[in-house]
Amino acid sequence: MLRTSSAFRGISNRSVRIAQFVRNASTKEHDVVVIGGGPGGYVAAIKAAQLGLDTACIEKRGKLGGTCLNVGCIPSKALLNNTHLYHQIKHDSAHRGIEISGDVTVDVAKLQAAKDKAVDGLTSGIEMLFKKNKVTYYKGEGSFIDEHNLKVKALEGEDFEVKAKDIIIATGSEVTPFPGIEIDEERIVSSTGALSLKEVPKRLAIIGGGIIGLEMASVYARLGSEVTIIEFQKAIGASMDGEVAKNIQKILGKQGLKFKLGTKVTKGVREGDVVKIGVEDVKSGKTEDLEADVLLVAIGRRPHTDGLNFEAVGLEKDNKGRLVIDSEYRTNKQNIRVIGDVTFGAMLAHKAEEEGIAAAEYIKKGHGHVNYGNIPSVMYTHPEVAWVGANEEELKAAGIKYKVGKFPFIANSRAKTNLDTDGFVKFLADAETQRVLGVHIIGANAGEMIAEGGLALEYGASTEDIARTCHAHPTLSEAFKEAALGTFDKTINF
Ligand code: FAD
Ligand code: NAI
Repeated sequence: MLRTSSAFRGISNRSVRIAQFVRNASTKEHDVVVIGGGPGGYVAAIKAAQLGLDTACIEKRGKLGGTCLNVGCIPSKALLNNTHLYHQIKHDSAHRGIEISGDVTVDVAKLQAAKDKAVDGLTSGIEMLFKKNKVTYYKGEGSFIDEHNLKVKALEGEDFEVKAKDIIIATGSEVTPFPGIEIDEERIVSSTGALSLKEVPKRLAIIGGGIIGLEMASVYARLGSEVTIIEFQKAIGASMDGEVAKNIQKILGKQGLKFKLGTKVTKGVREGDVVKIGVEDVKSGKTEDLEADVLLVAIGRRPHTDGLNFEAVGLEKDNKGRLVIDSEYRTNKQNIRVIGDVTFGAMLAHKAEEEGIAAAEYIKKGHGHVNYGNIPSVMYTHPEVAWVGANEEELKAAGIKYKVGKFPFIANSRAKTNLDTDGFVKFLADAETQRVLGVHIIGANAGEMIAEGGLALEYGASTEDIARTCHAHPTLSEAFKEAALGTFDKTINF
């Protein structure tokens, strides 16, 4: 046993006390600290502050809004909206009687600048919301010291510590790498690089026919790229209803997108300004070599926990790298909760936001609410694809008896007036009670229309409730009403 003199012990105890005093003096204390300022984190922080909790949010990017605002939802939708406009002016105006004299061209730098303006406006808007709601904003990387104390590696100035009664982890997700393919964000890009290309590639190859793949394919096809999508599965659209996936593939095919389904990528190497890609048909084993000017890797995203030092508090991860939580978003440490992409469920901004609200409410009130059976999905191609609730494959697998009601936009007066008739509304309703089980739409504005389906699901509506609700004429939503009618009666206009 180590023996120390009483005089030495005195000095040593005093220095520990002084060190503690110094640490406490510089440690900032809050009721709630949120790590990550994406849609999950910033919404959780605002809600917690609105509930009267002294709240701080730590964000390492230097800008709030996370993946969604900076390199996800918002920049992709800016490009989708403006390239759609360009495409319409160029290819969809003459037959409407709109004559364009002179060339219609795209200035890629200005297209990007318009996107950046939208992003900047929205990210700085969140800073204002933080001020308005008195959320303290720390710019830096947060990591665990213990279950109540965090270290912040500051983006500017000295590092410091923050203490909190409750902590919410909202560190989001990152691109899933493709083993053996090196992303340089120039010729071999992730979605982040694809959102900021300086010129339109003549040939764009995309690994992954999921939502990112299809949205970015639309952007560049409209700008003139030859786009080839290589998808491992036999269908595109990840978790889309099978019938919807087949139909949107046909529509996108007519827009010029090429698909290689049931195909695996064996190689992707940059050679100068060209990317050499090797592919293999999963069934036949037949191989093929492709070339592209840009290759986009879009095979999904994975939870982001790097730099958190979550091991220091013993938080558990599952086999997909997601932080494990209970039904109140708590980890095995009761004061540490996790929301958004870094934990289970769909990687969607609105899902993260709902969880942010619920987690703050659990902390303050002991109860919160997210209906995981009612999280809408929207793919912002043209036409859009939107869905909520169960799809046919899920209902079949669960052995639930259901009826289908469908109404095509070709028979909808507004769609015909707009000369924009691709797609349909499809309802899935319980065979006995007509309760709405799922709604699936391909069509212009499907992303707005799906909100009515969400409301129907939330209130446990039947398709008859919807079919008996007066919908304005002439609107696309009349197709929604007619599809609901189609589950239990004859449609009127088709
Ligand atoms: P994130 O938005 O990823 O935010 C996490 C934040 O935490 C990041 O800003 C990160 O810098 C920060 N952070 C991480 N670690 C630390 C740390 N240790 N300390 C401090 N800060 C840290 N979803 C939709 O719903 N609609 C769409 O249209 C849509 N489009 C998309 C398009 C693309 C190209 C991509 C990539 C994604 C898209 N998504 C879309 C998905 C959406 O962006 C995510 O689901 C959403 O951003 C998840 O929110 P989050 O708060 O969980 O995480
Ligand atoms: P995803 O999960 O939507 O699609 C990935 C696709 O890649 C799947 O079809 C999968 O089968 C395929 N794939 C996987 N490994 C492959 C391989 N080795 N070779 C070929 N194909 C392979 O993921 P994505 O598109 O990367 O998007 C990530 C997340 O971002 C998604 O969860 C999505 O919800 C979200 N997001 C949402 C948007 C929206 O709501 N509009 C827009 C963009 C992204």
